[in-house]
Amino acid sequence: MQPTLTVRNLTIEYATRRGKVQAIRNVSFDVKRGEALALIGESGSGKTTLGLGIVQLLPVMARITSGDILYRRQDKTGAPPLEIAALTLKGNSLRQFRWRECAMVFQGALNAFNPVLKIADHFRDTAKAHGALNGKSLEERGKHLLNLVRLDAERVWKSYPHELSGGMRQRVLIALALLLDPQLIILDEPTTALDILTQRNIMDVLQELRSKLDFSLIFISHDLSLAAELADRVATVYAGKIVELSDVQTIFKAPTHPYTIGLINAVPTLSGHKDDLTSIPGSPPDLVEMPSGCKFHPRCPLADEQCKTREPESEFAAADHQVTCWQWQKARGVLKSYA
Ligand SMILES: Nc1ncnc2c1ncn2[C@@H]1O[C@H](COP(=O)(O)OP(=O)(O)OP(=O)(O)O)[C@@H](O)[C@H]1O
Ligand code: SF4
Ligand SMILES: [Mg+2]
Repeated sequence: MQPTLTVRNLTIEYATRRGKVQAIRNVSFDVKRGEALALIGESGSGKTTLGLGIVQLLPVMARITSGDILYRRQDKTGAPPLEIAALTLKGNSLRQFRWRECAMVFQGALNAFNPVLKIADHFRDTAKAHGALNGKSLEERGKHLLNLVRLDAERVWKSYPHELSGGMRQRVLIALALLLDPQLIILDEPTTALDILTQRNIMDVLQELRSKLDFSLIFISHDLSLAAELADRVATVYAGKIVELSDVQTIFKAPTHPYTIGLINAVPTLSGHKDDLTSIPGSPPDLVEMPSGCKFHPRCPLADEQCKTREPESEFAAADHQVTCWQWQKARGVLKSYA
């Protein structure tokens, strides 16, 4: 099967008062059919920008300056997929693409419900905006999805947003994203604002949805443990680039990029001692004044002259393991921790 999404050489720039900043820099990756790909990285690394670029809902000051995004809808019969070059879409076809093919639940959307509309009206508005489903069939589909996300559909359908808890609203958002049966869903930090038990509940709902429905998922998070739980593959994002991408086992058991190793060393484990935890020194770069060479070099314990002057290209450490580092062969052995 071909991937559901192919992104090639995508660059996204923001025009800011201090000048142009490249928030996504020449990024390429695939999302395979039915897989969950997690994007992890520190605040400001470009995760949201990448998601918004895929659904083309970037703010006005942002521009995609290069790249291609190819989406493929395919059924399980093996028939040729319907291919859509997403960046060529405009007007109505772009609107259709956004919800029917690829739906995104935005970061912070939990608080963006219209307070005067009932949940049923949110479903109706979404269906109307995308020219699909109405009347009884909309209500049936909406309630079916609310049940799937483990809500009391009859009650929630008639509720106003303020009558629901944060966790319930997040589940409504997930149900809304599924309304038109998209083959790709992007969830941007879907659990960040929630308490730990509610987070757990959302993760269980997502696992169950994945087992019951047929969609691929991009899961954006800065929480590595959540990514480890849900994802088939994980991409670490640093300063607008994917610096490492592999299956979840490899990323967590044998990370190869110094930044990924640093992220993982900073996560507490049940068996580990707290003295084993180390944070990555320094902070992410200012995108207006990006460091020369490898953008991670000011924070990297392995940085040498080459790292400071030349930016590495992505290479394959194994068949399904991409890494962007001059010294990846050495990093795994040397960097047990930053201490
Ligand atoms: N509206 C904007 N105007 C100008 N620059 C922006 C804007 N939004 C994002 N940026 C720039 O793009 C970079 C990436 O931002 P983005 O929101 O994609 O990061 P993120 O990885 O999603 O961070 P977080 O984990 O905090 O959500 C930021 O560092 C910032 O410099
Ligand atoms: S290229 Fe050099 S500075 Fe960058 S992550 Fe690799 S070793 Fe560190
Ligand atoms: Mg974000």
